[in-house]
Amino acid sequence: MRTLYSGRFEVELKEAIRRLNDSFPFDRRLWQEDIDGSIAHATMLGETEIIRSEDSLKIVEALKSLKADLASGRAQVPDSEDIHTAIEQMLKASIGEVAGKLHTARSRNDQVATDLRLHVRAAIDHIQSQIKAFQKTITDVAEREIDTVMPGYTHLQRAQPVRLSHHLLAYFWMLERDRERLQDARKRVNQLPLGSGALAGTGFNINRRRVAELLGFEGVCPNSLDAVSDRDFALEFLSSLSIIAVHLSRLGEEIVLWNSREFGFIDLDDSVATGSSMMPQKKNPDVAELARGKAGRVFGHLMALLTTVKGLPLSYNKDMQEDKEGLFDAIDTISLLLPALSETLSTAKFQRERMEQACHGDFSTATDLADALVRQGVPFREAHSIVAKLVRSCLESGRVLEDLTDDELKAINPAVTWPERNALASVEQRDSQGGSSKQRVQEQLAEARKRL
Ligand code: ARG
Repeated sequence: MRTLYSGRFEVELKEAIRRLNDSFPFDRRLWQEDIDGSIAHATMLGETEIIRSEDSLKIVEALKSLKADLASGRAQVPDSEDIHTAIEQMLKASIGEVAGKLHTARSRNDQVATDLRLHVRAAIDHIQSQIKAFQKTITDVAEREIDTVMPGYTHLQRAQPVRLSHHLLAYFWMLERDRERLQDARKRVNQLPLGSGALAGTGFNINRRRVAELLGFEGVCPNSLDAVSDRDFALEFLSSLSIIAVHLSRLGEEIVLWNSREFGFIDLDDSVATGSSMMPQKKNPDVAELARGKAGRVFGHLMALLTTVKGLPLSYNKDMQEDKEGLFDAIDTISLLLPALSETLSTAKFQRERMEQACHGDFSTATDLADALVRQGVPFREAHSIVAKLVRSCLESGRVLEDLTDDELKAINPAVTWPERNALASVEQRDSQGGSSKQRVQEQLAEARKRL
């Protein structure tokens, strides 16, 4: 039924058109935000005497009890064109014709923009707290594994040894930037569109600041046309979620690699892994694979919304109804992944010996030998070339750098000494700020903990 605008039409909407047009199947998710927005709007309408204060009171009370009934499951939202229509219908069923006063000085265009901003704001707060919990897990594991040494990679070739905690903390800082990005985006999300009407404002003497205050918005959108047609806040949020998805995907890929027999660096807990229906021996790193696999859909939602809005003239266009499903799915996807990865990491067993062994005989201390030569005054370029030749001759004769005798070292440079040739000594050498020595990683951990 055309509940909101039946006066204009003589016949019902065709069924196939209705199914295309309705957003209720997905925007019903906004029911709380829609009620909250209406409570604030009705309150303001009463305070400004645009509607009688007893009518305002009646509407607000009814909306509040509607909210409680929906929250407890005592009531169900009826199928409708969209959530805004549905709530208004419910209100009318509860208090009769006076419900019709709620939509004074309001359009669904400023209403839906308000609902969506409230929803994104809540999602930002939720995801930020999930990120924080994950960061806490990372710092706990990093602290526990402070003495675990592993190969660091470039080009996925063993490059120089690092502390496992140093490697894990890299993800802490990625997530820290994610949290900052969300916090920054939140300021622009948290502006009130309501009071913009359909597009041009309203002739009623409304008080937008009051509505903003009631809904916890920091400010009021300054241009009514922009307010109803702007979806930048959703784009920014989706792009922040996409970057989070990149980070989770990269961590997922590392866990997949580390969990392979070839690496053998990590043993995932049974509670976070699944098996194979055919191969009895399999224990698969599904969470990590899904972290990698689900990134695509989040990027896709960002691309879809960019494409939806890019050619739209001002102001509201029905195309914009397409802003919701992808946005909701991106929120759900990231909200599922963050705790799942956190659980995966906190329950994983790192194979410390295997990691340390992997640093032996792999030439990953070659830079240390070059640095030892530099300390004797050899220019780095020359030292690099000397050690590179040594590596080549070792490879040809099947030896490793650590096996070089002191005489062989003296033959390259009589003054050079390289007493401690193991991975731990190599890691301790990298004592520069932000480096992998124990003291520097502890410093980093302390800084990380301060952020939480
Ligand atoms: N369901 C619509 C949406 O999500 C609400 C706004 C409808 N506005 C309109 N003028 N038809 O965008």
